[in-house]
Order: sequence, then structure tokens, then C-alpha cells
Amino acid sequence: MNNAFNPEAAQGLDPHSRELVERRARLLGPAYRLFYQRPVHIVRGSGCRLWDADGHEYLDAYNNVVSVGHCNPSVVQAVERQMRELCTHTRYLHDGILDYAERLLATFDDGLANGHVMLTCTGSEANDLALRIAKYRTGHDGVIITAEAYHGNSEQTAGVSPSLGDNSPLGKWIRCVPAPDSYRNDSSGLAEQFAAWVDKAIADLERQGNGVAALLVDSAFTSDGIFVEPTELLGPAAERVRAAGGLLIADEVQCGFGRMGSSLWGHQRHRVVPDIATLGKPMGNGYPVAGLAVRAEVVADFGHDIRYFNTFGGNTVAVAAADATLGVIENEDLVARSLATGSELVAGMRELEARHQCIGDVRGSGLYVGIEIVADRETKAPDGGKAATIVNGLCERRVLISATGRYGNVLKIRPPLVFDSGDADRLLTELDAVLAETAAGA
Ligand SMILES: Cc1ncc(COP(=O)(O)O)c(C=O)c1O
Repeated sequence: MNNAFNPEAAQGLDPHSRELVERRARLLGPAYRLFYQRPVHIVRGSGCRLWDADGHEYLDAYNNVVSVGHCNPSVVQAVERQMRELCTHTRYLHDGILDYAERLLATFDDGLANGHVMLTCTGSEANDLALRIAKYRTGHDGVIITAEAYHGNSEQTAGVSPSLGDNSPLGKWIRCVPAPDSYRNDSSGLAEQFAAWVDKAIADLERQGNGVAALLVDSAFTSDGIFVEPTELLGPAAERVRAAGGLLIADEVQCGFGRMGSSLWGHQRHRVVPDIATLGKPMGNGYPVAGLAVRAEVVADFGHDIRYFNTFGGNTVAVAAADATLGVIENEDLVARSLATGSELVAGMRELEARHQCIGDVRGSGLYVGIEIVADRETKAPDGGKAATIVNGLCERRVLISATGRYGNVLKIRPPLVFDSGDADRLLTELDAVLAETAAGA
């Protein structure tokens, strides 16, 4: 994992952190990872601020789950109110889930807008369900994904998540295509190039005796390294998949709910309407709620033949959290704010790019910004080591970001959507200082 704490370095931590690290290892086992060279012990949050156990304040430029701010009062109140009144599942009549489904569907374009909503607890479950629906609808098993995709932690979704690394097996009928790397390819031909890669994967699936059930893509290719340009890239690939009898599943778990600034959904930047859009992370501002929107005809047979029940998915409290979160996004105009603050941030980063040689590319849409750290601008050779130094340098200055992409060399900046100009200035000032230190130490 990019930006993972190395447990062998535990000896260098202060006594209390070391004790916590050791307890985690003993109690939670070996599969969990911590962030940062010096793990942060967070005890409280508000808006874009976090506080550690010693009372130090951090600027959170990383956490997209709490998109309307840590401990947002509207969401907290909605959850508390509903928890006092009723917390139960979807097998009783209740207005809450219907009001929310209506409100949510209205945010999609035709096709999905008059489709259905199905609720889960996690993004993994949402993608898992989407794949089951796609396979049932098409009669195929083939799934096309990008080379560093992450779509979840269940058996089926880990099987479409190559970013988990070589030790995590991919599923049988999975084909990986390169991500549309706008930094290393000519952007003008990238949509056709991407469609050609997808075409090749379809042909291979068919030649091996199966067909394509779905092209499953994160609409902003976030774990691949955050590729947000060109827009309108997904259309030609979607056409090829549909012509071969498959579906387009847009994974909006990271980039949905306004993060991309120009629209509520990442796929809208590509001017496509997917067959299924999967949702999660920021949906309940930290309360576990996720799900999908699906075209009516796509889920018709599946729903007729197979019942769907999820004990906690879509429970009354989850829906209250989701409804309150969407309410804040709409009432506080957070999509437009994401665009405005994100543009300031990208402009500031471009200014840093002019002065710091290690920045090869700055790209972003709304409050999802990626900064490519390279060893050499000519060769564009990725420098994951330097990216890690920068991430940890910022953490020492109490600004939290992380890194992503195949080589861990893309700084990943995706703060809560309530991030404002002052926050952007603080991030830019600290990043400038860390870049200068890194260059001096190089
Ligand atoms: C693009 C994407 N899809 C799916 C998931 C899985 O979501 P969850 O962790 O809620 O299961 C993630 C989580 O990081 C994600 O980034």
C-alpha cells in the first residue's frame, strides 16, 4: 500500500504510539495497515480539522468520506433523531427510504433517473451486487477493469482490484486495460485508444469462450493515479462494450457526490449514462451507507428471479444519514464550492510546478487533485520515494494527504468538500515548504 507505516520502525515512536501499534498488531492481526512514517493518533474532528491525542490540530486534505465535514451537525442530528425513533431494515414500509431514493434518482440523467436504487453498507457490497446483476443480465462473466483499479474487499470485488497487489488473485474472467494516463499519452487520441484497449479485451474474452458482462471503471481512475482529463473519454469504450452485449458500471464510490466539482457524478463529465452507478464512501458522511442506481430493464430479471435483502443496508438510520448528507451538499452548494476551491488549488499547484522540478504534472477536477512526482521531467520517471517523503513531510507539518497510482508517486489530495480558500492556502504554503526541504535534502 502507498504511504503505509513500516512496523519495523515502531521502535522509533514515542512510548504511547509504540504501545498502540503493538496492541493493534496483537489484537487486529497482521492485515491492517497504518498511514504515515509516524502514525497519527486522532481523537476528534470538526469540519476540515482533526486533533490528535496531544491536542495538536491537523488540516485534513485527504478524507473524502466525511465530505460535508467531520462531525457535521446536520448529519449527527439526523442520525441521533432517527436512532431514538426507529432503527430497522427494509422489510417494513417506511417513508424515509422512498423519499431518499426519489431525491437520489433525481440527481441522475435519464435512464438512471427513472431506474431504481438498491442500498448496501459498503462500496464493496455495491460493486459486488452490480457485478451479480451485470452477469445475470448479460449471461457473461467477463469483467474489464483498469490496471490499478480498486473496487472492494469481498471475494468478487478483490478479484477486480489489481491494486491489491500480486498476492491477491484476480478473478477468472477478468481483463485489465491500461488506465488512460493523460500525462504519458497524447490526450487528443486517448478516448479512441482506451476504446481500442477495451475492444482487445472483449475479443480476448470471446475467443476464450465467454463474453463481456461489464466494463467496470472508477469515473476518475483514482487508484490508477487520478486521470480526470480528457472528459468524454468513456463514451467510445461504453459503445464497444454495449455492442458486445455488456454493461457500463461507473464506480462512483470515490468520485461521486460532488467531489469532481462540475457535476454530482463523475460519469457526467464523460457525458455517458452508465447502466449501473455504484455509490458509497461519502454517502452518509461516515455512517456506513452505500448502494447503486440501476436502469430498470437491467435489474428486471435479476429482481424477479432472485430476492435481495441486506440486514443493515438501507436501514432507517443509514437512510437518515444519507438524506442529511445530500441535503447539506445541496443546501450549501458544495458541488460549486468544490469546483471553485479545487480550481484555486490547481492554480496554486501549477505555480508550485513552475518552481519545483519534481512536479511533473498537476491534474484535478473539483476537490480531487493529483500531483505527479517524477525523478526527471524528460523521462517522466515516477518517483514514489520522493512522493512518500513529501506526504510524510506534510504530516509533520500537520497537513494530511496521501499518495496513489501504480508507483505511489501521485500525491492524492481529496479533502472534505467544505475545504475553503484559507485551507487551500495553508496546504499550498506547507507543500511549498516541504518541496523546498525535499529539494535541499536531495
Ligand atoms: C473506487 C472504490 N470502489 C469501491 C471501494 C470499496 O468501498 P468500501 O471500502 O466501502 O467497501 C473503494 C474503497 O476504497 C473505492 O475507492
